[in-house]
Amino acid sequence: MKFKHGIVLGSFLMASVLACSGPKGESGNPKIGFAVFKYDNTFMSGVRRAVDKAAQGKAVVLTQDSQDQQAVQNDLVDNFLTQGVDALIINPVDRTAAAVLIQKAKAQDVPVVFINREPEEADIASWDRVYYVGARAADSGTMSVEILLDYFKQNPSADLNGDGMIQYVVLTGEPGHQDAVLRTKAYIDTFAASKANGGMGGQELMSDTAMWDRARAQEKMAAMLTSYPDRIEAVLANNDDMALGAIEALKQAGYFGKDGKFMPVVGIDATAPGLDAVENGTLLGTVLNDAASQGTDALNIAVALSNGTDPAAAIAVPLTSADGQSAGRYVWVPYQKVTRENYRNFMNK
Ligand code: BGC
Repeated sequence: MKFKHGIVLGSFLMASVLACSGPKGESGNPKIGFAVFKYDNTFMSGVRRAVDKAAQGKAVVLTQDSQDQQAVQNDLVDNFLTQGVDALIINPVDRTAAAVLIQKAKAQDVPVVFINREPEEADIASWDRVYYVGARAADSGTMSVEILLDYFKQNPSADLNGDGMIQYVVLTGEPGHQDAVLRTKAYIDTFAASKANGGMGGQELMSDTAMWDRARAQEKMAAMLTSYPDRIEAVLANNDDMALGAIEALKQAGYFGKDGKFMPVVGIDATAPGLDAVENGTLLGTVLNDAASQGTDALNIAVALSNGTDPAAAIAVPLTSADGQSAGRYVWVPYQKVTRENYRNFMNK
């Protein structure tokens, strides 16, 4: 019989090992511990739904809320290991804390799949039973700006001061989160590339963090409108929740009302409320951050590692190195632009 590490054990030895470890759930399916950075996060709620759906009939998933505290998450991981899980899926609170979690798991030979918050490359490299499932953050920033550039091309009067530049404000996610850093950098780079190619450029008026959060984004947007009355021509938000918060503040300032005053706002994620806002015409566009594929891939890799089968055979996309250039232990799920033209394709997924 193939055991956890693919070692063939004699029946005598196997009986004693099973008696003291007993890692598989009652159904005989692998038991997987899933630590989410916090439950109160729209995007991760989508990932949780995908993990649960993918697990049906093939794994027992124990999901826990790390309550946005790394210390809580460390305790959860200890508990999962005590319960004898076969694999872990971890959405780290602090992605620089991954090394500690890897050490704990490695000591019990329990494989780890990180998701959504990317550990340092050296941490992923530190053990061959560590994987990462995510998306290339910079691509989503580039696509966000492309949506804006298309809009300004079709609506030249949106350039309020007619200077050939888009004056924009940015609502960023949590500082230090790779998605916040790389998306925001990609905004700047994409505007610069557009200008260099004879297209419109961008001028960032103000950037502030709203920590991925809708209510905070509403407050920040209200403050930005006060700081730059009638000067803001576009809003870029690192996720849909913050874009929706910005839209609330804009509504209160007279946008999206009967007189047709419009502000192009672009988010990222294509969450259900984000897609609704594209439908009702308040959100100009968003970028699909594919929670369904990310959750499904993470679960399938964890199951394969638990069962001693090949993780590469369990997912639809290739497993690559961090830079995507060679084979490795990263899954990069592609982003997709979402606008009024195609948003229906992403609803009810
Ligand atoms: C998503 C955000 C989410 C964050 C959580 C990002 O990839 O775009 O909406 O808050 O992950 O880590």
